[in-house]
Amino acid sequence: MVDLKAAVRAIPDFPKPGIVFRDVTTLMGDPLAFSETIDLLCDAYKAHEIDQIAGIEARGFVFGAALAHRLGIGFVPVRKKGKLPGDTYSQTYDLEYGQDTLEMHKDALSQGQRVLMIDDLLATGGTALAALDLVEKAGGKVVGAAFVVDLPELGGRKKLEARGLDVLTLIEFEGH
Ligand code: PRP
Ligand code: MG
Repeated sequence: MVDLKAAVRAIPDFPKPGIVFRDVTTLMGDPLAFSETIDLLCDAYKAHEIDQIAGIEARGFVFGAALAHRLGIGFVPVRKKGKLPGDTYSQTYDLEYGQDTLEMHKDALSQGQRVLMIDDLLATGGTALAALDLVEKAGGKVVGAAFVVDLPELGGRKKLEARGLDVLTLIEFEGH
């Protein structure tokens, strides 16, 4: 069994003093850890009859696309504002300072398709809640949300579960 937690590098004082940044690029760059991550996600969802993966820009694309390939299903990008060329739904969400906006193509899903949301990390849950709104606007049924890393002290899981979402996280770190 690969130690996924050990594969995530900690960068102190990024992006600002006092914050320990959990850097998943080292996990992505480790073939055994990356493969184990996708294996665990695949095992968790292969029986769920997922139709599409919705991956959240940017690091959710890496895990989401690999998982979609393994499950033999499609991948839908949830992107930061202004990047998608077609007609989009748009959802603004709060960050620690200020706001950001996510978008998804209006025609990315068929009505009632079963969608699994993927991102690298769950913190406050604001990003994932915005993505949930977009998938629902586009007619998808979100059957779960999976994250490689959870920062439980930031409360994201509770927020998502309060919206009725089934949440899977692979590893947890204490602190911010
Ligand atoms: C990070 C992380 C998640 C989000 C989690 O992304 O990759 O997407 O924050 O935070 P939340 O649960 O508090 O919303 P970031 O916005 O830094 O962008 P990136 O993935 O494009 O680097
Ligand atoms: Mg992100």
